[in-house]
Amino acid sequence: MTETGVFEFQGKRYEFPVEIGSEGEIGIDIKKLRGLTGGIITLDPGFKNTGSCKSEITFLDGEKGILRYRGYALEDLAEKASFLEVSYLVIFGELPTEKELERFENTIKSHTMLNEEMKDILDGFPKKAHPMGILSSLTGALTAFNPKAVDVNNEEEMYQAICKTMAKIPVIAAWAHSKNLGKPMNYPHNDFDYIENILQMMFTNRNERYETNKIIAEALDNLLILHIDHEQNCSTSTVRIVGSSHAGLFASISAGVSALWGPLHGGANQAVIEMLEEIIADGGDVEKFINKAKDKNDPFRLMGFGHRVYKNFDPRALIIKKSADAVLAELDVNDPILEVAKHLEEVALNDSYFIDRKLFPNVDFYSGIIYKALGIPVEMFTVMFAIGRLPGWIAQWKEMRINSEPIGRPRQLYTGENLRAFKAINER
Ligand code: CMC
Repeated sequence: MTETGVFEFQGKRYEFPVEIGSEGEIGIDIKKLRGLTGGIITLDPGFKNTGSCKSEITFLDGEKGILRYRGYALEDLAEKASFLEVSYLVIFGELPTEKELERFENTIKSHTMLNEEMKDILDGFPKKAHPMGILSSLTGALTAFNPKAVDVNNEEEMYQAICKTMAKIPVIAAWAHSKNLGKPMNYPHNDFDYIENILQMMFTNRNERYETNKIIAEALDNLLILHIDHEQNCSTSTVRIVGSSHAGLFASISAGVSALWGPLHGGANQAVIEMLEEIIADGGDVEKFINKAKDKNDPFRLMGFGHRVYKNFDPRALIIKKSADAVLAELDVNDPILEVAKHLEEVALNDSYFIDRKLFPNVDFYSGIIYKALGIPVEMFTVMFAIGRLPGWIAQWKEMRINSEPIGRPRQLYTGENLRAFKAINER
């Protein structure tokens, strides 16, 4: 007998089909709820209990701390594969063969040039504009240079659109950074691989030769893999919902970048470092800040702690922590921020407020620390997250369009005024 979910209201009983995911997750399919009940909806602010789609891309179990892309354990992928390999897996569903990977890399390289007119748009931004603001705007602006909508059912067109997106976003990101520093923009170079190009475009002066630092390149490759996808998080849901109106890939990704920028989402990696700096500037009293975070009358939150779905540990944080320790040792970094971070982590992990609410360090707690050790400036942290999340956004957009999902359009419970008579202005 197939299971059903039962809903009883005002003496009436309604049955709804139950869907079981491949890892045994249970979803009650309430698509017909409103129609059957004559208007009842579910209310779930923040979508804490709502599955917005079925997806084959990422599986995560927040209680057990499991994260898998297309069935492969994140730990395995982070150790054994490159960022482009894992990007291919996430976007196309299977790990690439050598030939497929070579074609992917080469096609991306063939699309890395940006239209020079993009520079005119960039010039219009104030010098101190945050690179995430520039990244989001210029990603949206790419639609003006690529006005033709991609035919999602045409494999080759989709492939080219995907490679184009993978190619151009890092260039915009690097240019946003150069603009910030008032330095001339660097161009991508086909002699370098994907990660080297990001590093040379962002962090090499035009009059210098870029030399690959293997430790930095490998650490960045690894960090980006950890960020590739995280199922229906805020920015990914944004990308899917914008794309569900059949808005293009660049427009949807531009919206995703904006969603990622917020300090409760990807902006947390920058916020972590700013918080640690604030603690040091304030005299280094970690306990004082822990107490502020616990005080319900104080809006301060411990940045880099807590997660909507991970309630035991964030598997990305465990991998990153290990990698952070290795990179810091290899690069021989001695930063007072690290001491404060370690102290804060230790105090919070032993405090009943954080234990009871299952608040653990998340990926952003350590990623900020490692980015800083790699010499990446703080305002570029969330940009690096965006570059890492890009293949995930592309994969989710593609899946949503190929599955012909309906336009995203939630309902609401209206709590405003009932009908009232209009009052002329002199009677108000
Ligand atoms: N510091 C202090 N208290 C916290 C924190 C924190 N960082 N996070 C949650 N709480 C408390 C919260 O006040 C609430 O307490 P109570 O039950 O007494 O009212 C309880 O823990 C549950 O919190 P919530 O806000 O209902 O949880 P949520 O699932 O809505 O929020 C979160 C998740 C990540 C937005 C939140 O934990 C947070 O603001 N963390 C700091 C920002 C951060 O590090 N974000 C990065 C997330 S990981 C990367 C990513 O996915 O982008």
